Amino acid sequence: MKGIVFNELLEMVEQQHSLALVDQIITDAAPPHGGAYTSVGTYPAGEMVALVCALSARTGAAPGALLEAFGEHLAATFARMFPDLFAASGTALDFIAGVETYVHVEVRKLYPEAELPRFDIERPRPGALAMHYRSPRAMPELAVGIIRGIGKHYAERLEITREDLSLDATSVRLTVELVGP
Ligand code: HEM
Repeated sequence: MKGIVFNELLEMVEQQHSLALVDQIITDAAPPHGGAYTSVGTYPAGEMVALVCALSARTGAAPGALLEAFGEHLAATFARMFPDLFAASGTALDFIAGVETYVHVEVRKLYPEAELPRFDIERPRPGALAMHYRSPRAMPELAVGIIRGIGKHYAERLEITREDLSLDATSVRLTVELVGP
């Protein structure tokens, strides 16, 4: 996983809590490099899990809820960093529908070592989208959070339903419905 993602997690913890908590979770998770992530570096996804679990232990919030909140934070960061990517779509569902064929394709050009999930997308009708998430990193909550953040970016109200297709969250079906502006 790219260093930029780790730095954004630590940034969110600092914003929502404190720098002291950032230091505590780095101490608890004990990554080999002492928590100094460079944005272009690549680090094991297990370090993200360790940091989120440490944050969960310190705050009492469930790891899944934390990953979801992080996804929302990430979407807002991405929208600031890559405005052209977001300007290319007029609605949240159009943007999300392009995650596999456009968005993550562009991400891979910027970060060739990125470990991205796979999404199979269906548009059963206008205002609805179904996506099949598959990834050995098993982070569907992050996808849900990113989708929520994208809804906020486009000022659209989205309802997200999750259906697990495996026991280990490596295969999950997400249904996204536009429920209002
Ligand atoms: C359309 C909505 C999007 C969804 C649902 C989504 C979902 C995800 C998920 C769940 C991951 C975690 C890795 C995994 O599960 O295997 C991920 C990784 C990532 N995504 Fe997306 N993403 C979206 C849009 C974006 C956008 C707009 C950007 C940036 C412009 C972006 C950049 C990245 C990056 C940099 C990673 C980390 C890859 C790595 O560190 O190796 N994604 N994405």
